[in-house]
Amino acid sequence: METRKVRCEVLLALMTLFHILLSSASGLNTNQEMEQFRRNLLANGLATTPPMGWNSWNHFNCQIDEKIIKETADALVSTGLSKLGYTYVNIDDCWAELIRDDKGNLAAKNSTFPSGIKALADYVHSKGLKLGIYSDAGYFTCSKKMPGSLHHEFQDAKTFASWGIDYLKYDNCNNDGSKPTSRYPIMTQALMKAGRPIFYSLCEWGDLHPALWGAKVGNSWRTTGDINDSWESMISRADMNEVYADLARPGGWNDPDMLEVGNGGMTRDEYVVHFSLWAISKAPLLLGCDIRNMTEETKEIITNTEVIAVNQDPLGVQAKKVRMEGDVETWAGPLSGYRVVVVLLNRGPFRNAITASWDDIGIPPKSVVEARDLWEHETLKTKFVDKLSATVDPHACKMYVLKPIA
Ligand SMILES: *[C@@H]1O[C@H](CO)[C@@H](O)[C@H](O)[C@H]1NC(C)=O
Ligand SMILES: *[C@@H]1O[C@H](CO)[C@@H](O)[C@H](O)[C@H]1NC(C)=O
Ligand SMILES: *[C@@H]1O[C@H](CO)[C@@H](O)[C@H](O)[C@H]1NC(C)=O
Repeated sequence: METRKVRCEVLLALMTLFHILLSSASGLNTNQEMEQFRRNLLANGLATTPPMGWNSWNHFNCQIDEKIIKETADALVSTGLSKLGYTYVNIDDCWAELIRDDKGNLAAKNSTFPSGIKALADYVHSKGLKLGIYSDAGYFTCSKKMPGSLHHEFQDAKTFASWGIDYLKYDNCNNDGSKPTSRYPIMTQALMKAGRPIFYSLCEWGDLHPALWGAKVGNSWRTTGDINDSWESMISRADMNEVYADLARPGGWNDPDMLEVGNGGMTRDEYVVHFSLWAISKAPLLLGCDIRNMTEETKEIITNTEVIAVNQDPLGVQAKKVRMEGDVETWAGPLSGYRVVVVLLNRGPFRNAITASWDDIGIPPKSVVEARDLWEHETLKTKFVDKLSATVDPHACKMYVLKPIA
């Protein structure tokens, strides 16, 4: 309870700080400008639940071409992943020529995307999937291998719409030093004007607390710097993202970065923790492995329909840490149908018993509860009163959906 109170105070302090930042340093100086910013809504009707799909960066970095993107689209369908909701096929950095064409338009890199992005979008759409693309609120993207969209927002948004793009990840490298709150909303306006609903993913790495302004600007906002394929990186992204839990909601989601499941740097248990925490955090579930040749173990994790259903629950409330004691934590959040999802997380090197008490997780005292173990796929025979305990392996978790039955 104490930690929740402290967190609430931290959040209030952040909000106050943000208002000071907005009115002083962001370039939004007058009331009129503030009003304009407030009205600058992204009303595209997307992201009623967190987006699901794949992105090229975590596995391929800059080594991408149209063959990989097409084969990935094929694999999303042939593996059954698309049926589970993984429908965005998102191209990250390095897809364009460094020089714009003679009309100033972004141009697909001739050596790697010779058919062009429109043809790729047609292909991806023909499979019932959606195509995402990447640009940057600066002069160049992070790789510096292609131009950014700063000062070209309206032209580039129009280009994306004309190609049939469905999703834009917008990075923050090589910018002019102005605040993200001056640069990101321009792309919002440009996308709204472009005439096609395009999911807008703000990737300013959590620098200016985008959870506090992102919902007016985009459909998701990164709350952290880039993830890498290690336990430390993954778990610290989850922690940083959790601080903003109250600000996620249908239409706009906190984004602790894309999934590393299947890339080889973590154990099976650690990837289960990764997928579980992303699911209850209502994070975008964007796969980051080579899905053309996943192991059975990877496939088993990312196709857990019960865990996916938690992520896609229509209530759209992000879970929080409700108790932290040394290496063990309880994360919990409400689901539709008066249910509660709980993750018992062991961050330490030894097996540990963890207890979730109804008091911590928001179930009325004395309630009799039925528990479904989402990784064992079984409804426990025991009915629980007041609390549920489990022994959890090192760097592992248990995940339950609890349903009061009396
Ligand atoms: C793209 O590459 C092909 C084959 O190398 C070449 O014929 C064509 O002129 C190139 N187009 C552009 C716009 O550079
Ligand atoms: C991955 O991230 C962790 C924690 O943020 C960091 O300590 C580590 O150096 C990173 N590893 C690589 C290979 O970048
Ligand atoms: C993965 O699959 C692709 C396409 O089927 C293939 O080109 C690539 O070599 C494979 N990679 C590995 C590591 O097996």
